[in-house]
Amino acid sequence: MKIGLNGTGLTARAILKLAMTIDEFKEIEIVHVNGRGMSLSALRDRMLYSTSQRHSGISAEIDEKGGELILNGHRIKYSRESAPEQIPWVNGIELVIDSTGIFRDKSKENKNPYRHFKGTAKGLRGVVISAPGKGGIDDFMWVASPTLKEDLQALVVKEEPFVIGGASCTTTATVPIIDTLDEAFGVESCFLTTIHAATRSQDLLDGSKGWSAFDTQLHTTGATKSTNRVLKKKIPMDGIAYRTSDKDGSFVQIDCLLKQEATKEAILAAFKESKYAPYISYPKVSSPPSSYIRGDHNMVMLLPDEIVIINKKRAIVKGLYDNEEGYAAHFLRLVKYLASIM
Ligand SMILES: NC(=O)c1ccc[n+]([C@@H]2O[C@H](COP(=O)([O-])OP(=O)(O)OC[C@H]3O[C@@H](n4cnc5c(N)ncnc54)[C@H](OP(=O)(O)O)[C@@H]3O)[C@@H](O)[C@H]2O)c1
Repeated sequence: MKIGLNGTGLTARAILKLAMTIDEFKEIEIVHVNGRGMSLSALRDRMLYSTSQRHSGISAEIDEKGGELILNGHRIKYSRESAPEQIPWVNGIELVIDSTGIFRDKSKENKNPYRHFKGTAKGLRGVVISAPGKGGIDDFMWVASPTLKEDLQALVVKEEPFVIGGASCTTTATVPIIDTLDEAFGVESCFLTTIHAATRSQDLLDGSKGWSAFDTQLHTTGATKSTNRVLKKKIPMDGIAYRTSDKDGSFVQIDCLLKQEATKEAILAAFKESKYAPYISYPKVSSPPSSYIRGDHNMVMLLPDEIVIINKKRAIVKGLYDNEEGYAAHFLRLVKYLASIM
């Protein structure tokens, strides 16, 4: 299936890199990328090197005349349009990944991802957003909800244009922890803390979006709502994000009040038996720094030595996640399944 990618930001480039290089995603055929400010040569450079991941290992060239980016020998059309209706998609695009972070709110016309269906891709059937959907757009995450496959199949069978959200990087790290604890011991309530690497949504110095990205700042996190949405659960929870100046690599701590008593060993056994086990990694050292996670393509890297139990029913679990590539990989698992049933 031919897939178009809108956006050339951190997440879009991570998605493109993994789709081009990882065997698990070889069926994902991105044939067209649309950017806004970025020139074709700058995109080639960013695909070769990135500040967080360093050398990509990809061979990247450009054909300026043909307007194409050539990644590992694959020719990908490149265009630069800011309005979804104007993107001159190549023929045959059936699915668009929107990774701008802008077009994800159905209730606001200028930010509405359904605008893609008014565009040039006449055979376009669906849009997947690399972020939480807003204004009535549901979020999905690979293996999270027990009815995930049925729900996606129902969307596809309807043969109507659909848009779905892909939640967030923090939600991707949080879901396997909270859901595993809930399924094994029951979660009464929980508090989530993330220490999050920098993204381009932060101001470099004090500005309209907040304080300097060089300082650690307190922010809200949407991951609490998004976790319940993808799990279709109503676990009482709140949370906070500490935004740091780290390049990539984030940290999450889940502090849960359990319904049943638990031990550290029982919690670890629950993770090893859970449906998330194939997407959880464990570090070789007990407490690595956030940069250690870069290039890890799992939902979360759990820190077993850091699990704390207080009074038998309060469990504190910690993990690391690559907010760029870990998220992109798990997002692509959702896209891969969706493309296989369309
Ligand atoms: N970074 C992460 O760790 C991460 C992880 C998971 C999910 N996400 C989500 O992914 C989305 C993108 O985040 P990001 O970090 O990749 O952001 P980013 O690096 O700032 O990239 C955003 C991209 O969207 C383009 N864009 C912005 N406004 C546009 C408009 N009006 N029309 C067309 N294109 C537009 C930008 O173009 P220009 O180059 O011209 O600015 C850029 O290519 C956000 O919703 C974010 O929450 C981010």
